[in-house]
Order: sequence, then structure tokens, then C-alpha cells
Amino acid sequence: MQEELISLRNEAIAQISAAGDGAELEEVRAAYLGRNGKFTILVKKIKDVPEESRKTFGITLNESKIAIENLISDKKQALIKSLSEKRDWFDLTMPGLKPTLGHIHPLTQVLSEVNKIFNYLGYQVADGPEIESDYYNFEALNIPKDHPSRDTQMTFYVDSTGTDLKPLETILRTQTSAMQGRVMKLGKPPFRVLVPGKCFRYEQVDASHGFEFWQVEGFVVDEDIHLTDLFGTIKYVLGELFGKETKIRFATTNFPFVEPGVDTYMQCTICKGKGCSFCKGTGWSEIMPAGMIHPNVLKTAGIDTKKWNGFAFAIGLSRIVNLRYQIKDLRTLTTPDMRILSQF
Ligand code: DAH
Repeated sequence: MQEELISLRNEAIAQISAAGDGAELEEVRAAYLGRNGKFTILVKKIKDVPEESRKTFGITLNESKIAIENLISDKKQALIKSLSEKRDWFDLTMPGLKPTLGHIHPLTQVLSEVNKIFNYLGYQVADGPEIESDYYNFEALNIPKDHPSRDTQMTFYVDSTGTDLKPLETILRTQTSAMQGRVMKLGKPPFRVLVPGKCFRYEQVDASHGFEFWQVEGFVVDEDIHLTDLFGTIKYVLGELFGKETKIRFATTNFPFVEPGVDTYMQCTICKGKGCSFCKGTGWSEIMPAGMIHPNVLKTAGIDTKKWNGFAFAIGLSRIVNLRYQIKDLRTLTTPDMRILSQF
């Protein structure tokens, strides 16, 4: 027993001197002096030691425990001292590690530019729900349930099973125009409103289609508004965004919530009008659909059409970013890869 004790003590001393840090020292302490430590177990065995050697065994055991405790605390002090000595060598002038900073997404950059331009024109920004009712997304915009234009807005429906929602009445908004009805019902004209936001359509994803995209709807309701006010606004905004020399042209088109409807084309910034895959070889890029707000839309929102009229337009924000940075694949804008994003 006595020999076992001596060799255990030597073993502990060797481990203490080998310990490289505080944590290792604590491990040694637990292994020898802890509740199930090797010395603690020996204390319990004292009664088994033959009577004639019991006293010496007890004394040696006690001394060993105290010696080990002292050695551990000496070693701890030595470790602290060597650490602080190392500190003296620390070079305070050494450059630190540069933290990687976040990056403002190109869409957000362009959006804040758009907001600034319209702010200057006196527009207010309205934020609306991405999960929208069929009523605001379609019906209030003069698009009844059986209207063929719904086919062009491939819609995601929210599953209503097990909820209080009426089937097929709740959708992911397909257009930020959905906010027209909400704003017009809530407030009183005149309005100059800008609605930036994400829209969703059930599309096969490829280089030029995505199932989600950013759109900025804008509309004005006031007295005596003319188509020329709309043309002037579009020309000014695109000039601010792409430069005053930007060539644009207008064409008539049809959207149920405007009459007349206007398609705005801008000379393709990627090929400068020569024709490329982005503009489908036409040299022009469709950029801001617009028109004079249909009287039915105003009436549905409770606005007196004898007094008020207005125009509306939409900016395809994702498209503007692509034209601005000459990005040919739409998916670039939804990648979280910093190596790509930090180029903008
Ligand atoms: N909301 C339409 C869409 O996403 C775009 C649009 C066309 C908005 C004409 C307008 C407008 O305000 O006047 O397809």
C-alpha cells in the first residue's frame, strides 16, 4: 500500500509539471484530489491497512495530498507569470485581422436611388403585405375572377386548409399595384405614392425568369392629371437613373387597371441598341409599364372620378439593376455569394 501511494504521488507530480495550462492543471487536480480522485479513494481504504503500518500510511497520504495541492498552485502561478511575460512581447503596432464587413445589395442600392428621385418629386413610400388578398391584387384593379389577364400573372395560392381563410382568396402578391386599392381606401386624394416590394409568380426559373422579383409601383391621383404628366415623370426618372441622354420610346399596350396603357422602352444599355440576348435582339428593353388609372379602379376605392384622375406606373427594379450592371442572368441577384455581390 505504502509503495502504491509513493508511486501515485510521483505520477501526480509528473503530470503537474507536464501541464501546459490552467485547464490541464484542473484535470490533474480532479484525477487525484477530486471526489473520485485516486487519493480520495485511498483515504477510504485506510481502514484496510494493517494496524502496524496504518499510522505511517495515513501521515504519508496526508502529506502527499498537501504537497500535490501546493505543487498545483505553484504551477498555476508559474503559468500565469509566463503568460504575462509573453504579453511583454506582444507587438501593439501589429495590424489586426480585418473583419469582413457586410455589403449593401445592388437591389437595395438602386432602390434607395429610386426612393430619392421620387422623394424629390414629392412621393411618399408605402409598404404593403407580400401575402395579399385576391381582392386587392386583382379585383380592386379591375381584374375580375374570369379576366384573361390573370393568365399572365401566374399566381401562387396560399393553402387555406385548416384555416379561416377562404379557399383561393389569399395569394402571394403578383404585383405591387395591389397597394393602389389599399392606399386609396385608407386615405384621401391627392396621392403621390411609391410602393417598392417583392412580387411572386409561378415561373420556371432560368436566366431571364425568376419566381420572385422586385417591383416599384408608383401612382398619382390628383385634379387635372394628363398623359403628358406621366410621360414627363418617366422621362425624368429614367434620365436620373441612366443619364439624361438615355433614349426612350412609348407604345400603347393593355393592362386592365389603366386606360390608355403605355409600355416604356429604353435603348438597351447592354448592347447600346445593336440587339443582344437581353433585349431579345430588338435593341430596346421594356422598362416601365404605365398608364392613366382606369376609372373603375378609382370608383372601387370610393374616389369621385368627376374630380380626380391619375396615372400609375411600375418599375421592374430587378431589371433596372441588370441593365445598370449589365447582368445577363437574373439569378445573380438572389445568390448569397459574397464574391459576386461585393463586385457591385
Ligand atoms: N402591375 C403590372 C405588372 O406587374 C405592371 C403595371 C403596368 C403597373 C401598368 C402599372 C401600370 O401601374 O400602370 O405586370
